[in-house]
Amino acid sequence: MKFQGISGNFAEAGVEALAVAVFKGEKPSAGVLKDLDKLTGGLMAEVFKAEEFKGDSGQTVLLRFAPKGAVKASRLLLVGCGDAKDYKTSSAGNMCGTATRYLRKRNVKSMAVMPRGDADAVATTQNVVQAFITSQFEIDKYKTKDKIDKAVTSLTVCIDGAKPGDLKTGIARGEAIGDSMNFTRDLANEPPNILTPTEMANRAAKMAKEVGLKCEILTEAQMTKMGMGSLMSVSIGSEQPAKMIVLRYTPAKSTGKKGELLALVGKGITFDTGGISLKPGEGMDAMKYDMSGGGTVIGAMRAIALLKPSVPVLGIVAAVENMPDGKASRPSDVVHAMNGKSIEILNTDAEGRLILADAVAYAEKQGATRIVDMATLTGAVIVALGGHNTGIMGNDQGLVKEIIACGKEAGEGFWQLPLGPEYSKDIRSDIADIKNIGPRGKAGTIMGAVFIQEFVDKAKWAHLDIAGTAWLDSGKPHMAKGPSGVAIRTLIKLVENSQ
Ligand code: BES
Ligand code: ZN
Ligand code: ZN
Repeated sequence: MKFQGISGNFAEAGVEALAVAVFKGEKPSAGVLKDLDKLTGGLMAEVFKAEEFKGDSGQTVLLRFAPKGAVKASRLLLVGCGDAKDYKTSSAGNMCGTATRYLRKRNVKSMAVMPRGDADAVATTQNVVQAFITSQFEIDKYKTKDKIDKAVTSLTVCIDGAKPGDLKTGIARGEAIGDSMNFTRDLANEPPNILTPTEMANRAAKMAKEVGLKCEILTEAQMTKMGMGSLMSVSIGSEQPAKMIVLRYTPAKSTGKKGELLALVGKGITFDTGGISLKPGEGMDAMKYDMSGGGTVIGAMRAIALLKPSVPVLGIVAAVENMPDGKASRPSDVVHAMNGKSIEILNTDAEGRLILADAVAYAEKQGATRIVDMATLTGAVIVALGGHNTGIMGNDQGLVKEIIACGKEAGEGFWQLPLGPEYSKDIRSDIADIKNIGPRGKAGTIMGAVFIQEFVDKAKWAHLDIAGTAWLDSGKPHMAKGPSGVAIRTLIKLVENSQ
């Protein structure tokens, strides 16, 4: 893919199609819209007059015209962006993604985008370039025919008055983030016979080498020796050995607070059958995405390595398969996690929290002072929030608030649910310290969080339940259906905030 930034007029772009953001109620009588209207010989004004196009969010109209003078383009795509006052840099990304998917279908190979808005040029360019890349990801990797192979391969970003250096920075950042999101989405889309815990570790290791991250893969023997009985109880029913993927980013020169270390910890269940508490057959196939939290950590670490913030980041993925087998854990088994706590397993399908228990304890042992874990942890979060918000909970309101704020900037929704001793009581076990489920049908998402909380000692901690947001059941104008790469942009902001 080819990227270019222009701080002047779209006429210099030399592309097949132009795409412009239009706000609700705008008239083509001023500024860039006036120039574009002239280019189309007044077609644009006609479309406005006939109220065929009102600038509603997501609305698109394509105008065809004869190329004129220096302008090679023969198409102009109007992309509605709703009220100008609600337009953010993340909206510029959605606008570009919508335009890219629209023009790709119509065989366009090169386009110029005018994202508009008055946000800074680096951020706008970054969002536009990222969305150009992520909007063209499809889940049809394994099709041998009828694959969507059309692509817009060249993008020119036109921002009037932008500094060339800012455009360049924005492009590099957008590429790093977009490619990393697609890296995560590819992992989540892989079938579980291909993406086993071993394969997930191999891909993380290969990526780490390419971008200059340190990578260590812990084996089952090492994890057993460290006392990770909770994690191992999930893996024991699988033929596939579990792996703990440990990625380390260390900046050349650190500017963060001394002794501070942020850890990103992900649930990497490469397939969740439920174990002996077997899931119903219908819909079980969806559980290949149960490694999405781990995939998010790997993608976020990739982006961090490329963006080079001046603070260290630790990435940890517990990659495990949850299968029923003669050796599998039974409901009523008791196991011990590495922090010494005893756990009564009452449902082997509540396995995500079992692997995260040891993963967060390990993160803290490695020196983490702030931990953000992410997981497709509960069906209950889908009932509560649907696909529009990620559930967030934590032991430190400052950290939770910061993540919600980063999400707002990134265009990703987070909604907080409460924690507290009254909820923690609900997972007290009669025969061990805690049990891995709470009372049936009550606060399922919170039960997952208070369980993980038991394994965090002094660190500030937040838990993201991405079960509802990591997979899009249907496509959006700017994004194909399938894995979403959710939370990566928010996490990057969180990391860069602490520089
Ligand atoms: N991976 C699932 C969570 C899930 C369920 C995600 C449905 C998306 C759709 C998790 O391991 C799980 O099975 N959780 C159980 C917990 C229960 C047994 C307490 C659930 O949510 O039903
Ligand atoms: Zn499960
Ligand atoms: Zn699961």
